[in-house]
Amino acid sequence: MSKATILLMGMFYQPKLDELEKLYDCHRHWAAPDKDALVASLADRCEIVVTNGGRGISAQEMAQLPKLRLVACFGVGVDAIDLDYARQHGIAVSNTPDVLTDDVADMALALLLGTMRRIPQGDRFVREGRWLAGGMPVTRSLQRKRIGVVGLGRIGRAIASRCEAFNTEVGYFGPNRKSDVSYKYFDDVVAMADWAEVVIAACPGGPSTYRIVSRAALEALGPDGVFINIARGSVVDQEAMIELLAGGGLGAAGLDVFDNEPNVPAELIALDNVVLHPHQGSATHPTRAAMGQLVIDNVAALVEGRELVTRVV
Ligand code: GLV
Repeated sequence: MSKATILLMGMFYQPKLDELEKLYDCHRHWAAPDKDALVASLADRCEIVVTNGGRGISAQEMAQLPKLRLVACFGVGVDAIDLDYARQHGIAVSNTPDVLTDDVADMALALLLGTMRRIPQGDRFVREGRWLAGGMPVTRSLQRKRIGVVGLGRIGRAIASRCEAFNTEVGYFGPNRKSDVSYKYFDDVVAMADWAEVVIAACPGGPSTYRIVSRAALEALGPDGVFINIARGSVVDQEAMIELLAGGGLGAAGLDVFDNEPNVPAELIALDNVVLHPHQGSATHPTRAAMGQLVIDNVAALVEGRELVTRVV
């Protein structure tokens, strides 16, 4: 039997990419000198696309592959994939949930502590020899803070339970109140930000959460407030955030995600009250390997006519 043809839209964890490439007839879109010619040459036989959360795939690109049956996404967030088009055309979409929850939640806490205790700034303070001239200024404390989590899904819950271990009070915003948690519920992000001293974004990206952490929410969080984002750049009003951070209207931010990655605005890079990280929430060897394995397992399920392991659409 001939090997199934796969169009690879975006890079993912190299050892698992190598495995996938040994198993199937794979074609790297990003490496093709003439991408349109590659897609056209695969159009009559390509049933599977593998992409990553940042790259996704547009409706227009899917339309060029009339035999497409599966888009397997390396990543839990599928906001860069046109899900409406996929639904309308009977194309299944899979993602990589659960296996990354703990590492992403750890990253949220690392950014939270790093931002509040100014760990990268302290690192620079030592390296630049400034300690020799006197101690580093004292910082904020995480202890006894009120923390508002935007989105109490799998990752939001894992963040909330870690926050509890730091003697904090947790509240959350989401479309629905959860019956199995005792955290304070808010049906409005601005109201939660007004109550909270820290807001952590942990919701999916996409149109339903676009700029959900609005200028008003950031203003409500205020001059002493801390904003952490491990979700998507799209969920916060990035322009307002930079303006408020620069002008003292928002205390500090720890950011793993941005609009238009990997382009981080110079105005944000110039600020001393931010900790910036290059979208590394799930980027540990064991988690990236598990995510890659889920991609392989979903592809194998489709090829062998079984139910997908982690189907979104
Ligand atoms: C990472 O951002 C993911 O969606 O898995």
